[in-house]
Amino acid sequence: MIDTITMKWKDWTLYLIDQRKLPLEEIYVPCSDFREVASAIKEMIVRGAPAIGATAAFGFALGAREMAGKASDWGDFLEKMKKVKETLAKTRPTAVNLFWALERMERVMKEFGHLNGIAERLEEEAIKIAQEDIETNKAIGRHGAQLIEDGTALLTHCNTGSLATVDYGTALGVIRTAHEQGKKIKVFVDETRPYLQGARLTAWELMKYGIEAILISDNMAGWMMKKGLVDMVIVGADRVVANGDVANKIGTYSLAVLAKHHSIPFYTALPTSTIDLSKKTGDEIPIEERSEDEVTHCGGRRIAPEGVKVMNPAFDVTPAELVTGIITEKGIIKPPYEENIRKVVGS
Ligand code: MRU
Repeated sequence: MIDTITMKWKDWTLYLIDQRKLPLEEIYVPCSDFREVASAIKEMIVRGAPAIGATAAFGFALGAREMAGKASDWGDFLEKMKKVKETLAKTRPTAVNLFWALERMERVMKEFGHLNGIAERLEEEAIKIAQEDIETNKAIGRHGAQLIEDGTALLTHCNTGSLATVDYGTALGVIRTAHEQGKKIKVFVDETRPYLQGARLTAWELMKYGIEAILISDNMAGWMMKKGLVDMVIVGADRVVANGDVANKIGTYSLAVLAKHHSIPFYTALPTSTIDLSKKTGDEIPIEERSEDEVTHCGGRRIAPEGVKVMNPAFDVTPAELVTGIITEKGIIKPPYEENIRKVVGS
């Protein structure tokens, strides 16, 4: 059974909190078909790298249940499952956890090798992925909290909390652990234009946990640093590659440059399932381009002239040289990343 704020799995239905509507409305969207799961990822009902991975795993199990009922034999089933995997895989390109979860589900499916009981076996694996995610985040929190002293002022970007994971969070998990340890901390929250994950989701989560949150618009971060108000920057990641380059929400790169200029440590926190050793540098990471409307509109209202040209990359890549450390469930990885990442995750 999975029952968290982000997702609930019950009787072959995945209920996802509609993150597009938060913090104003708390509505759960039921998905009992893999196509519905794919569209929930694409439409950002669910978002955040680890949450996307676990959601896709449940989508894969749902697809297997449907295809097992339709397939004439194991070969036919595998053929049909290719389509299921492809539908789920082509939703969002940057967060590698999506592909990591689908690969794991496919491996388990192939090892199982027969139709009788396949859907149940895959359901079991999806639940395992979701449960592991929670444990992993708590371990990330324990490692990362060692870096945070009493009285630290942090700055974070996007949303990396319970909502971006199955539960607890990555970068926000580190912040939560420090708070649970009794450290008095405060957090500057970038609003994170254009999708406003910081203003809508992170501010909401921090307030719920009783952690002091100060919402700023993204362009204020540099000035806060200049004024000496920020001791540490901590963000999540959608993909970290072999040389330590980090893809994360657009705006992360600017923060890392600013942090370097002001000699402020810049950390990223992530499960090792976010590490993609198949890519050597950040240049190889596919960056999702999203709808123009997200930039031309705010809160459903047009704010820019009709016909203006727009770019809307949803992520950027921070070069490894700007990253002070990578916090994972297996410990904190320090430079040289090329060598030390492999030591932690193997090759
Ligand atoms: O577009 P989103 O909201 O899915 O982007 C999310 C982020 O960039 C997060 O920082 C990242 O996934 C890490 S979440 C633990």
